[in-house]
Amino acid sequence: MPDPIPFARPFTGREEEEAVLRVLRSGWLTTGQEALALEAEFAAFLSAGPEPRDPPLRCLAVNSATSGLHLALEALGVGPGDAVFLPSYTFTSTAEVVRYLGAEAVFVDIAPDSYNISGAALEEALAGAGKTPRPKAVVPVHIGGLPCDMEEICGIARRYGLAVVEDAAHAFPARVGKAAPGTADKGPWAGTCGDAGVFSFYATKTITTGEGGMVVSRNKELAERVSIMRSHGIDRTIWNRYTDTKASWYYEVIAPGYKYNLPDLLAAVGRVQLSRAVELLRMRESIAERYDQAFGGMEDLVIPPPGGARHLYTIRLRNSARRDGFIEELKRLGIGTSVHFIPLHIMPYYRDRYGLRPDAYPETLRRFRETLSLPIWPGMSAGQVNRVIDAVRSVLKT
Ligand SMILES: Cc1ncc(COP(=O)(O)O)c(C=O)c1O
Repeated sequence: MPDPIPFARPFTGREEEEAVLRVLRSGWLTTGQEALALEAEFAAFLSAGPEPRDPPLRCLAVNSATSGLHLALEALGVGPGDAVFLPSYTFTSTAEVVRYLGAEAVFVDIAPDSYNISGAALEEALAGAGKTPRPKAVVPVHIGGLPCDMEEICGIARRYGLAVVEDAAHAFPARVGKAAPGTADKGPWAGTCGDAGVFSFYATKTITTGEGGMVVSRNKELAERVSIMRSHGIDRTIWNRYTDTKASWYYEVIAPGYKYNLPDLLAAVGRVQLSRAVELLRMRESIAERYDQAFGGMEDLVIPPPGGARHLYTIRLRNSARRDGFIEELKRLGIGTSVHFIPLHIMPYYRDRYGLRPDAYPETLRRFRETLSLPIWPGMSAGQVNRVIDAVRSVLKT
């Protein structure tokens, strides 16, 4: 049998290798100039085009999206007695950070026609919410890089006085909404619509530093708090202490912060990946196009909607009873797959803490049972894409 095709594989090359060597040889490995440059270049990427320039988008590099979500919610003052609304259909990071802060996670079902949080279900949850825990924030998740309806979510958040932190771990780069008819104008970037947005640079993500992430916000105070709390609650960055004319040894701790900074070794890789983000997206898009052509007319499965960052290519089997066997069959044929996501409300911790039954979120449960994600990574050869297509077809026939 030919080599197995992994579910995901990072796309890095000579430039990333040279970037790592440059940093290794520079004598400065931790957070410094490279991280600052990555932040500036990330802000420039998300600010090119019709985006508002004022207030400017601030970007803060962190060591994971999980850390970034934690920092963003902390900066918004989320704490014990607060409720944070989020989909059950997400990775555990989205909810665990709420618990780090002593707040409660309130799950919301997804919309029947998408993988994303349902505005109607959010509104219903808010209307039925009591005073304790107090509704404080909502964390929409752009699943697979397909943006949520941010106009709707932000509208609901405004009506109920909630902060919005976008979990954009999958969504770099993705435009929210459709182009207005007759124009090329597109909506804003996913991650820039709420009070803060958080991107992931984890190894399987659309651009990667191995581990890493970016918090973005137009809120100056929020960004300043994130900046301080990502390095121990110290009021000066290490780089500032190194380069500033003030005494380098002196600093003040203004809060018990965290150790969430992104080292230059990784930031340098991120800069190369960012510089080819559009090229990487096109590669993912062309694989998705091939899958769409191959699977679009099949009765037994549903292909994902077009658009977004194409982080995942998630298909749905009409006969959900076949899903687990389908994954096994593909594995036997050397095709790696994954399931996005096992809902959080059926995970022992959340199930038991909140006394949740599996059918509490029916759309979430139904989607989970139907779906599997196929390999979609830049660098997949045409032959590998064809092998995935042939394997899916042959398993469907059995
Ligand atoms: C939806 C979602 N949010 C957050 C994260 C956390 O990202 P990181 O691994 O960078 O902490 C992930 C990771 O896969 C994710 O899928």
